[in-house]
Amino acid sequence: MTISGTRAYRPGLVDLASGLISREIFVSEDIYAQEQERVFARSWLFVGHESQIPNPGDFFVSRMGEESVILCRSRAGNVHVFLNSCRHRGMKVCRYDDGNTVVFTCPYHGWSYSTDGALVGVPYFREAYRTELDRSKMGLVEVAQLYSYKGSIWASWDPAAPPFLEYLGEFRRFLDLILDGWDGREGQAELLGGVQKWIIPCNWKFPAENFSGDTYHNISHRSVDLVGAGPSGRSRRDYSELNVARKLHVALPDRGHQTITYVLPKDHEPQPAYQNSPEVAEYFRHCEEERRKRPGINGRMIGAPGEIFPNTALLPRQPRTLAVWHPVSAHQTEVWRFFFVDRDAPRVVKNFLRDYYIRYSGPAGMTEQDDMENWSYAHAASRGVIARRHPYTYQMGMGHAVENYEWDGLKLPGRVIDLTRAVASEEPMRNLYHRWAQFMEANSWDELMTWRNQANAPGNAQAAQ
Ligand code: FES
Ligand SMILES: [Fe+2]
Repeated sequence: MTISGTRAYRPGLVDLASGLISREIFVSEDIYAQEQERVFARSWLFVGHESQIPNPGDFFVSRMGEESVILCRSRAGNVHVFLNSCRHRGMKVCRYDDGNTVVFTCPYHGWSYSTDGALVGVPYFREAYRTELDRSKMGLVEVAQLYSYKGSIWASWDPAAPPFLEYLGEFRRFLDLILDGWDGREGQAELLGGVQKWIIPCNWKFPAENFSGDTYHNISHRSVDLVGAGPSGRSRRDYSELNVARKLHVALPDRGHQTITYVLPKDHEPQPAYQNSPEVAEYFRHCEEERRKRPGINGRMIGAPGEIFPNTALLPRQPRTLAVWHPVSAHQTEVWRFFFVDRDAPRVVKNFLRDYYIRYSGPAGMTEQDDMENWSYAHAASRGVIARRHPYTYQMGMGHAVENYEWDGLKLPGRVIDLTRAVASEEPMRNLYHRWAQFMEANSWDELMTWRNQANAPGNAQAAQ
């Protein structure tokens, strides 16, 4: 088959005309190997946050795709991202999670690299190498592009990738909901505590598509909804604004980013959402009041799960987190979850949020456990030769997305499905896999940045709602 008239990629695997996607893209080891090259080596990937490396010499060991990288602030104060692999024989030059250092000394034969990546120490340089080694060519491998956006740090191995903000496109406003303060001040977020890391036995695309906007799986969270893990002891994310907001799916077809979002009516009055103590409730009430005064549309949006192509998920409302689905193999994913709070929030608010985040998210979080069970059982049940013959179905809401969506004076980008009555759609997942197939197929960034085909895809034409 062709993706909307472009060249064929593995005929039949991602078929947006019929809404059928082959299980091979989740379980095939060949396809997994190809996507390391075609997706992860070309995309912009989330690496960390500046609040993790405030001082010269600070480092945080992160990942990009399968590879270990060092996010580091040099002694001169500049941010770098290096491949964590010695130029001599490939040993990991840094085996700590984070810290502060003057040099990274390789444990194997002792080569040393400065915090700007230069090779500064080679044992027996005179005697064994007879000074013939050109040390200036043997610095740590550095990413081709790096961008710090409101404190979040992104990198790409591909010098031809477009600048980060172009890659992000109009999705920026959804990422802002995490990185800005709750009161709307720019870039006020900081990391709360360490990064939670754990391994799940499924392909990375299971969590990626779930976070793209799976509003259909609420049945999975029935028990945790009954327990009342929410901030005020009700539901999971109990804030009253949801009752008056319009719930939407927003998908950017030329980028592969997509999200659920809620839009508040223009005249909605801010209400306290967090009631567990007067101090916490007052903090959020005050922040909401400030946020609504700010120009732009973000004051009217309530963030919800979304996905930045390929493997960074956002959850901008509480718990306020970014997660990265690091590929380990076709059948394994290492999840890293970063938790955010307002930098200058009172201690009591940070403590309250810490408790809530932990009981909601992460490997022990009540909500996230439900999701992981689904993904890992679905993956295992899709690997067999018989199972592989039968594609998954992504037909919900096909043909019902609209462009130029506007409600109550607020315009949204991309392709939108109003979920107020529809409850759910699979537009975000189709958008994710459409972009994934483009990456697997395209040979250049020119192609990737000019293909805008989903709107024209057969069976997916615009339809007024
Ligand atoms: S592998 Fe690092 S010094 Fe040999
Ligand atoms: Fe879920």
